[in-house]
Amino acid sequence: MTGSETSPGNPVARVRVSLAERSYDILIANGLRRRFAAEIAAALPRPRAIVVTDETVAGHYLAPLEAGLAAAGVSADSIVLPPGEETKSFAHLERLTAQCLDLGLERRDTLIALGGGVIGDLAGFAAAILLRGIGCIQLPTTLLAQVDSSVGGKTAIDMPVGKNLVGAFHQPVLVLIDPETLDTLDRRQRLAGYAETVKYGLIRDRAFFEWLEANGGRVVDGGGGDGGNGARVRAIETACTAKADIVARDEREAGERALLNLGHTFAHALETATGYSDRLLHGEAVAIGMCMAFDLSAELGWAARQEAARVRAHLESVGLPTAPAAVAGLGLTPAAMAGLMRRDKKVADGRIVFVMVRGIGEAFVTAAVEESDLETYLSKVLG
Ligand code: NAD
Ligand code: GLY
Repeated sequence: MTGSETSPGNPVARVRVSLAERSYDILIANGLRRRFAAEIAAALPRPRAIVVTDETVAGHYLAPLEAGLAAAGVSADSIVLPPGEETKSFAHLERLTAQCLDLGLERRDTLIALGGGVIGDLAGFAAAILLRGIGCIQLPTTLLAQVDSSVGGKTAIDMPVGKNLVGAFHQPVLVLIDPETLDTLDRRQRLAGYAETVKYGLIRDRAFFEWLEANGGRVVDGGGGDGGNGARVRAIETACTAKADIVARDEREAGERALLNLGHTFAHALETATGYSDRLLHGEAVAIGMCMAFDLSAELGWAARQEAARVRAHLESVGLPTAPAAVAGLGLTPAAMAGLMRRDKKVADGRIVFVMVRGIGEAFVTAAVEESDLETYLSKVLG
């Protein structure tokens, strides 16, 4: 069962990810970071943990967490890694796991991932393989991690031939989200996370998309009577509830979970072409990819063109890129882009599996897009 609850006396939104003995809670509240240690202490099998974070996040949030854990009687060490996608590598995984073992890690100890998706994916994977699997608690501090990567148990590192190619499904035991941590995140990163937030509306929740059309600015930039934090809690809770629901039914992506990849086949091709660098953040690529999925669906007569235009208008209104032309110096031919898309993890029996749409809130998975139609469409966009 999945669901959420927010009682008036206790303004903590609680979303349950229901996976039998691997079920866990996601707690969302402004200021929750002041209670992280107490929530963690209550969830640990024994009072021993290792916090994994990056230098930037450590500068903002590590000292109070360490002090809180000490006050709660938890013996904790911290490992601080460099920020950036390069940290999701075999080299850092080897160093991290070795450091954990040097610290005398035992099976009932817990890793605490404090940071964005890079730290969450790396620490989650380390927890999956250390001593054949220990517990992991996620404390996501980017919007992308709060609406997506901290939930659902996908963990991985990047390989030279591609992103996220070595990893494991390993669910966290608890996810604690304080949207106020987004105040220290730069706007470009918040926007990238916003694209993944909009994704949930586009997949199956038209009402959420319409709410974002009215409130998206407050989710990205704050503002309003409550500094935008009420809007952020609502957006994050809605996203986590949607993801929890899908993960509970399809933990290992046998079918429905692929919907969460709306726009990602286009996005990964663009990211590969730009070297997975700051030239194009993942969420920016997803914004472009979602517009391309709507455009191609319209070209094929599956969705109305006005729906594609409406999605593009909203993403542009907050400042997200919506077409490959927005990527400076992309230099990708239609054939090269189709070639990169054929290397997607979802290719089955040689056919690209697409997430297409019938409209906003009506995404579906299909392998029925003909290569010739894809290339005709790409020629229009990139030609
Ligand atoms: P990130 O972890 O690199 O964080 C972005 C930057 O923001 C970093 O420099 C970080 O130091 C900084 N930062 C983080 N929190 C901050 C805060 N509160 N204040 C100030 N600075 C802060 O990037 P990300 O976008 O969070 O995650 C991207 C990764 O997530 C990619 O590797 C992607 O593959 C992965 N991902 C995983 C899943 C999944 O299901 N596991 C889903 C989507 C994306
Ligand atoms: N971010 C896609 C998934 O978790 O399946």
